[in-house]
Amino acid sequence: MRLRDKVALVTGAASGMGAATARLFAREGARVMVADLLEEEGRAVAREIAGAGGTARFQRLDVADEGQWEAAIAALLAEWGRLDVLVNNAGISGSATNDLYDTALWDRIMAVNARGVFLGVKHGVAAMRRTGGGSIVNLSSISGNVGQKRIHCAYNASKGAVRILTKSVAVQEGEAGIRVNSVHPGLMPPMRTSGATADPAVRAKMLEHVPLGRAGEAEEVARAVLFLASDESSYITGAELHVDGGYLAC
Ligand SMILES: NC(=O)c1ccc[n+]([C@@H]2O[C@H](COP(=O)([O-])OP(=O)(O)OC[C@H]3O[C@@H](n4cnc5c(N)ncnc54)[C@H](O)[C@@H]3O)[C@@H](O)[C@H]2O)c1
Repeated sequence: MRLRDKVALVTGAASGMGAATARLFAREGARVMVADLLEEEGRAVAREIAGAGGTARFQRLDVADEGQWEAAIAALLAEWGRLDVLVNNAGISGSATNDLYDTALWDRIMAVNARGVFLGVKHGVAAMRRTGGGSIVNLSSISGNVGQKRIHCAYNASKGAVRILTKSVAVQEGEAGIRVNSVHPGLMPPMRTSGATADPAVRAKMLEHVPLGRAGEAEEVARAVLFLASDESSYITGAELHVDGGYLAC
C-alpha cells in the first residue's frame, strides 16, 4: 500500500477527479477526509469508501472561507492526529459564461480556484509542520500554462496562480520537509460547472490538439496525484506534472 498510515485531506472530493483521488488514496491505505460543499454527494463518497473497507469521513468545506478551513483541519487533527497529504482539488470552471469579462465571475473564480488553494496551503502547512512534513498536491490545469478560447481569463489566471504559488511554497517549505507540486490535467470529463467545454463540438475541436487522440479519465489524474502524494516522489518538489495526453507538448 502506497499511503499506508497516512492521513489525507482532499478538497472537491464529492465528484470527478477529487472523488477518484479519495477512493484511490483509501485503497492505498490512507485515512481520507472527503471535503466539499456538496454534502449529499460527499457523504456518499465517504460511505462508499467505508463500504469497501477503507477509512473516510466527510467534512463540509467551502475552500474560499478561512474559518471553514480552520474548522476542517481542527476536526481532522482531533480525529486522526496528523495531516500527511493535502490535495487542493476543488475548483470551478470559467466556460459557462458568454461574458468573458464579467467582473463578478472573475472574483468568484479567483476566490475558489486561487484563494481556496492559498488557504489550503496556509492551514495545511501549519498542520504538517507539527509532525515534520508532508506532501501537498495542487490541481492546476493546462489552462495554467496556456491561454484558451471560450474560457473566462480568470480560469487561466487562477490556474496560473496555482502553478506559481506551488513553486513558491515548495521553495519556502523545503526545509520543513513539506513537498508541494502541481498537477495539470488536460481534456477531461467536463466539470459540474463547465459550459462551452462540455459541448461535444468544442471538445472535438480540442481533441485535435491532443497527441494521444482521446480525452483523459479522472482515474488517470488520480494516479498522478497518488504518485506525488506518496513517498515514491520523495525528491520531487516544485514540479508540475502534465496529465494531458501531450497537449502542452505541441
Ligand atoms: N474537468 C476538466 O476538464 C479539468 C481539466 C483541468 C483541470 N481541472 C481541475 O481539476 C479539479 C477537479 O475538477 P473536476 O473535473 O473533478 O470537476 P468537478 O466539477 O467534477 O469537481 C469539482 C468539485 O469541487 C467542488 N467545489 C467547487 N467549489 C467548491 C468550494 N468553494 N469549496 C469546496 N468544494 C468546492 C464541487 O462541489 C465538486 O465536487 C478542478 O480544480 C478543476 O479546475 C479540471
